[in-house]
Amino acid sequence: LLPLERTLGSRRSARAAGGFESPRRPPFEADLAIPPVIDARRGESIRLDARVGRQEIIPGITTPIWGYEGVSPGPTILARKGIPVNATFVNNLPAAGDPGNIIIPEELGRRSLSEIVVHLHGVNTDAPHDGHPLFTFPSGESFEYFWPNNDFQRPATLWYHDHAIHATSQQVYRGLAGFYVLTDELEERLNLPDGEFDVGLKIQDVIIDKSGLLVYANEGFKGVEGDVVTVNGRQQPRFEVARGKYRFRILNGSDAREYRLALSDDSVFHVIGSDHGLLPAPEPTRRLHVAPAERYEVVIDFARYQPGTRIVLQNRLDEPQDRRLEDRFDPRLPTSRVMAFDVTRRQGFTAPIPARLRPLADPTGVPTPARAARTRNWEFDRQDGFWSINGRQFAPGRVDARPRLGTSEIWRFVNPAGGWVHPIHPHLVRFLILDLKGRPRRPGESGWKDTVWLGPNVTARVLMEFRNFAGRYVMHCHNVSHEDHDMMTQFETVL
Ligand code: C2O
Ligand code: CU
Repeated sequence: LLPLERTLGSRRSARAAGGFESPRRPPFEADLAIPPVIDARRGESIRLDARVGRQEIIPGITTPIWGYEGVSPGPTILARKGIPVNATFVNNLPAAGDPGNIIIPEELGRRSLSEIVVHLHGVNTDAPHDGHPLFTFPSGESFEYFWPNNDFQRPATLWYHDHAIHATSQQVYRGLAGFYVLTDELEERLNLPDGEFDVGLKIQDVIIDKSGLLVYANEGFKGVEGDVVTVNGRQQPRFEVARGKYRFRILNGSDAREYRLALSDDSVFHVIGSDHGLLPAPEPTRRLHVAPAERYEVVIDFARYQPGTRIVLQNRLDEPQDRRLEDRFDPRLPTSRVMAFDVTRRQGFTAPIPARLRPLADPTGVPTPARAARTRNWEFDRQDGFWSINGRQFAPGRVDARPRLGTSEIWRFVNPAGGWVHPIHPHLVRFLILDLKGRPRRPGESGWKDTVWLGPNVTARVLMEFRNFAGRYVMHCHNVSHEDHDMMTQFETVL
């Protein structure tokens, strides 16, 4: 592996990694794509095929991708609380890993693989495993996952993506990711924007070369930062909106890039949900910081605009520090504009947003820090040119924590280094952020989370619940290049 040279986190924002310049089109040429839907709300078994597809990521240029059902994002899976889903995934990717369909500019020490494993990010399951990175299966085979959607699983925007050991980053980059939307009666009773007014937005930056191939330049495992910002697999799309409210489920599906979102008129929108679903109450904000793998649900009201108005979803200031709110907008940066909303004269969804959404407590209760069985410390760092947790890299045979089933614990996540940022994600559990040192709490972070952003010199204390399943799970950085090399550990919930 190449030694990692210390630079400031994600400062390489103006250009793509490795000096690449993608053949971008001017923004807002393509229409927003809405992924196909697979409705599993009645509990049927579902089947998805991982295969090569072709997509116009940049308008007019065809790019080979890897996608579930050949599209990226993959189909949006709709699920219902209390109704389990059996999901069979078929690996129909080329057995040789399809190296001719991606450009890997430097010798990164790993080849293009084709073994896959599917993890439903945020899932609470143990059967037969939750998409643990070691349980990959080869081209030509299939595997059935079980997603219980039980009491512990709050209705939320989850996402399924590839998790193959040492290859997650490349495979998610190629397109193996999709939304999983879990709902229940409360969601319906609340009368939030639904149907065409409930839209998933998966943001991901990529690099594309002149021939249309994806370029996987992950800069010595620091992470790929591209100069093409995509939403739902299209470069900077435009979306025609009715005059009314929309519920957007925002997912940062990028390898490494963070987004600090704002509307071009600097107006207020409402955060209504975080990784694990609706917040107790909407939180008004003008800025939304979204780190890789985080989901935030927001309501934007377009009723206040005249027909013909264009509102741009901007990405303000590309620096790792959690800066003050008066973030800079630099239109010269190719990553500063994410997508556009074009307001039409059509009347949309105009009901008010309820003042109360979903309480933090649910049938499983809210754990209190006083009842936590113990505290564990986790340091996310580097040593000898590898990403590390508590000074060590991932080892398949090693388990670093054995929490007891039925207890809760406080986990203290520490980023001791000034230059790097890490979004930390433990599998299985959802957590509440108790406190943060080194940065303020951001909008949406008061809800249930499964990923917490550790900025430079940040410490986060979170309350973890081990309520449901015994078994072995991973925790890792969700800069997936960091995860692959090798900022990942295992914990085992024991009886
Ligand atoms: Cu998005 Cu290990 O997960
Ligand atoms: Cu990291």
